Amino acid sequence: MISQNSHFLKIKKKDVPENSMVEFYFPGQKPSERKPVLVINYKGTLFALEAFCTHEGLSLEDGFITDDGKIVCAWHGSVFDIKIGKVVDGPAKRDLHIYKVKEEKKGDKVVIYE
Ligand code: FES
Repeated sequence: MISQNSHFLKIKKKDVPENSMVEFYFPGQKPSERKPVLVINYKGTLFALEAFCTHEGLSLEDGFITDDGKIVCAWHGSVFDIKIGKVVDGPAKRDLHIYKVKEEKKGDKVVIYE
């Protein structure tokens, strides 16, 4: 991780290897105010999603990525579309919030907007 400020998180692309997902935190005044964000490297492109499953609020980082661009929650099997956060299969009913990701043209820095 490179740096953080109050409205965005800046990471290095290499912090999230291809076809993996890593949980980061947006900055905040107190640790309890820091919002988690799940950054996913799907086939070389980064996406940022709400970090906890909308079924029972458990960590999606423990799940896995499918070859066709979905995340499967490890706990009860909910499936979400990585690109748009949409629920593809339950038991989750609510879509995941997605965050804007901007890869800088030079270097390997990536900005994620809260
Ligand atoms: S917490 Fe993810 S499916 Fe239940």
